[in-house]
Amino acid sequence: MTSKEKIFENLKSKLGKIIPEAELYIKAELAAEIEELKREKNAVILGHNYMEAALYQTIPDFKGDSLELARKAAETDKDIIVFCGVRFMAETAKLLNPTKTVLLPAKKAGCSLAESITAEDVRALRKKYPGVPVVSYVNTYADVKAESDICCTSGNAARVVESLNSDTVIFLPDEYLAANVAKETGKKLITWHGKCEVHEKFTVEDIQNVRKQFPDTVILAHPECSPEVVSASDFSQSTSKMISYVKESKASRYLLLTECSMGDNIAAENPDKEMLRLCSIRCPHMNEITLEETRDALKYNQYEIFVPQEIQEKARRAVERMIAI
Ligand code: 13P
Ligand code: SF4
Repeated sequence: MTSKEKIFENLKSKLGKIIPEAELYIKAELAAEIEELKREKNAVILGHNYMEAALYQTIPDFKGDSLELARKAAETDKDIIVFCGVRFMAETAKLLNPTKTVLLPAKKAGCSLAESITAEDVRALRKKYPGVPVVSYVNTYADVKAESDICCTSGNAARVVESLNSDTVIFLPDEYLAANVAKETGKKLITWHGKCEVHEKFTVEDIQNVRKQFPDTVILAHPECSPEVVSASDFSQSTSKMISYVKESKASRYLLLTECSMGDNIAAENPDKEMLRLCSIRCPHMNEITLEETRDALKYNQYEIFVPQEIQEKARRAVERMIAI
């Protein structure tokens, strides 16, 4: 079997029920082309758990949540890191492995949280609350990280806050994640008004409706959901921890309150379990990353991530402190 045929057979077994065969064939062709370019260019591909199903099942060397992929980016000895995720993730990879070429396959792959706050906003908060430590969610741009003491992701936010020797912490920019972490740690969190444009849309009513129709459903909510939604659900953690939870749990039906593609990715790996999801909600930024864009990224070396030197050093410190925890 050629490499394209092998990829096609794998895609058919995983996604044959949700994507037509003709489309899977085109995807397999693209994935085979990307594999060849990856070898030629000595590149590694990191894929976030929110990648569309055919991309997720084929080209990434490593898949994971923001924290796991940051660690992989720091460790790699390849010349090029292609980040199939959004800009703040690719920037974090550049901070952790600055001599490598880091490529983001789509120019516009942003994030509503990262765009909600500027470095100037952080400086103003520091002035208003002198001496209070600043934690920045990894979903921020490098200039905001550079003004922070330490970063965190959804996978380690409570641990990072607990590690600080202060009962009051400035926690930016996600208002909902801050409220969820405050509840978990018992600390006072001063926050910002940023929200994830995907997770803010889930409501307690969505949960009640599903529980009424399917009372045996296990409900998983990402911690970027409102504290009310998180309280009404059964489990709340990072994307990778949600994936492991479904894999290890014995229940037969789940509702995922997170980005919609991840439901396809979990369903493909757990064919015996039913995944309910509210599929009107797709992250428009993650959606920018396709197999076509990833092939072009490798072919034309686009779009390279640059972080100004003076910002790099300060931002790296905040990310490395988090990685050390
Ligand atoms: P994770 O770190 O849990 O993968 O979350 C990243 C993200 O952007 C969620 O919306
Ligand atoms: Fe940002 Fe929300 Fe998209 Fe995650 S899902 S990248 S937090 S906009």
